[in-house]
Amino acid sequence: MEKLAIAIDGPAGAGKSTISKLVANRINLNYIDTGAMYRAITYKVINNGIEFDDKVEIIKLLNSTSIDFNHNHIYLDGKNVDKEIRENKISKNVSYIAKIKEVREKMVEIQRKIASNKSVIMDGRDIGTHVLPKADFKFYINASVEERGRRRYEELKEKNFDTTLEKIIEEIKNRDRIDSTREISPLRKSEDAFEIDTTNLTIDQVVDKIIKTIEKRRE
Ligand code: CDP
Repeated sequence: MEKLAIAIDGPAGAGKSTISKLVANRINLNYIDTGAMYRAITYKVINNGIEFDDKVEIIKLLNSTSIDFNHNHIYLDGKNVDKEIRENKISKNVSYIAKIKEVREKMVEIQRKIASNKSVIMDGRDIGTHVLPKADFKFYINASVEERGRRRYEELKEKNFDTTLEKIIEEIKNRDRIDSTREISPLRKSEDAFEIDTTNLTIDQVVDKIIKTIEKRRE
């Protein structure tokens, strides 16, 4: 089979990662979670006590940082940080780090390198517009902000995280605002992306839609 690249973009909590993982398993692709990379560097910035607006220190830190994937697990300087990067403290602050030009350049370089030698389904904010503009398929996954907030809230509740639905919706709105108004490759739907509103769809329905779209065009 020839090499395939699928780009999945959309705002926080739209279901991108759950859906991408399932599609990856169904049609045998490597799943690349680019959000995890921005989360990993944010985790390191916080651990080093660096302020989010201290670009000089952040860039210095970036230059002595390695981020990579091994079998769907994320490694920061050789250490697995799957769990740590999902903490709400990271979710709340990642967009401040992800808007820094030098951070984005380094992450995009790693992302393109990964996609250059294997078939991938890559999810994020700028995959169809910037990272893989020539992807074979592009999807933009969306849902109402209330539904996205509800999903994220359920996830956090399962982990016994003490918060409220209102707070989570506000945090998501804030993140969407920063992600879509930033200067460098903001979140937006690529013109040639196929949009799926998942507000009233089950995960399986979305996965089926994506697989059907791919199979139809490849017949
Ligand atoms: O899973 P969730 O939708 O909450 O977020 P994520 O995909 O883990 O991404 C976390 C954050 O990283 C986003 O809110 C963006 O600020 C940033 N990000 C980005 O700027 N570009 C990407 N390609 C992926 C994530």
